[in-house]
Amino acid sequence: MSKVISQDLIPKKTLYTGEQVPCIGMGTFGSDRFSAEQVSAAVAGAIRCGYRMFDCAACYGNEDQIGQVFKEAFDEKIVARKDMYIMTKVWNDMHEKVEESCLKSISDLQCDYIDLFFIHWPFPNYHAPHCDVDSRNPDSRPFSVEEFVNTYRQCEALVEKGLIKSIGISNLTIPKLEAVLPELKIMPVACEMELHPCFQQQELFDYLLAHEIQPIGFMPIGSPTRPERDMCSEDVADIQTPEMVEIARAHGCHPAVIALKWAVQRGQIPIPFSIHEEEYISNLQLTTEDPLTEEEMNKIATLEKNNRLVKGQVFLWEGANDWHDLWDEDGYIVQ
Ligand SMILES: NC(=O)c1ccc[n+]([C@@H]2O[C@H](COP(=O)([O-])OP(=O)(O)OC[C@H]3O[C@@H](n4cnc5c(N)ncnc54)[C@H](OP(=O)(O)O)[C@@H]3O)[C@@H](O)[C@H]2O)c1
Repeated sequence: MSKVISQDLIPKKTLYTGEQVPCIGMGTFGSDRFSAEQVSAAVAGAIRCGYRMFDCAACYGNEDQIGQVFKEAFDEKIVARKDMYIMTKVWNDMHEKVEESCLKSISDLQCDYIDLFFIHWPFPNYHAPHCDVDSRNPDSRPFSVEEFVNTYRQCEALVEKGLIKSIGISNLTIPKLEAVLPELKIMPVACEMELHPCFQQQELFDYLLAHEIQPIGFMPIGSPTRPERDMCSEDVADIQTPEMVEIARAHGCHPAVIALKWAVQRGQIPIPFSIHEEEYISNLQLTTEDPLTEEEMNKIATLEKNNRLVKGQVFLWEGANDWHDLWDEDGYIVQ
């Protein structure tokens, strides 16, 4: 029997709703490298060792296999549904049919309701799975406040119907948040954003905390197994920087674990992915022991290199310059 980490030892974060959630979750995107069966087997093992938060998405193509695992865990009374925190996301091609997408995820995940339902990207811009990064969909268009609020309204209706408990946003920027937040009736509880030592997004992070929106950090290890199409020659490998390697040596662990300790201590909820039991166990166990010193936290704070890995090129519209247009880097929404 593999190691079980007691729930009492895992620190919790409190959302603005008062709900308490674990300070770390598990990602489920197989990155084109791992099959749905491998990912769902890891989810089964992770539930048994003590994970209670899972980051799913309709577009990861594995919700029905993960749902089978959830059902077995509920049936075998390994965990009760109320003690799990299940997150999923509506994909870009379903922004007009959010309820249909949500019902499909609930059915596939066999979980009765979703705890936190994200709008995966703030555009309806669709690209075919596994497409080339340079491909452009002629229907793609720039961000529209009206279109986003229309999608968000459908999420608000899902809360009212009891299909989801909370709403989340993802891949947003401060200019877009400034434009949409005043329009919302139910505030988002969390924002999923790329966060790792060499990409800290400090300004957006502070903005979210000031608005009581919990940052959830995706690619917390710097996604060493991300698809080839998302790799660029200028990308930095966070866990290979000399500072991360040195801190890991001092703690006698892998630099990946240091990236996660930094994330938890900084205050975001990291959602690392791994299909390897020893890795996902150590990723949860790290939250219970051997914290980083203030000096180590300060050293990691200096590693910021604006190292964005998910650039989002495939969502660009005709007439856009390049991927920087998606991220409103000059402080206004690029049209
Ligand atoms: N909202 C969004 O738009 C969005 C975008 C991207 C990702 N996400 C979510 O974020 C999750 C995490 O991102 P990610 O999977 O791309 O990247 P990640 O968690 O930064 O990296 C995952 C890789 O790190 C390695 N790893 C994990 N734990 C380790 C350990 N203890 N020691 C050594 N290596 C370790 C594994 O590589 P090996 O297999 O080689 O060991 C694993 O494949 C996704 O699964 C998904 O749920 C959301």
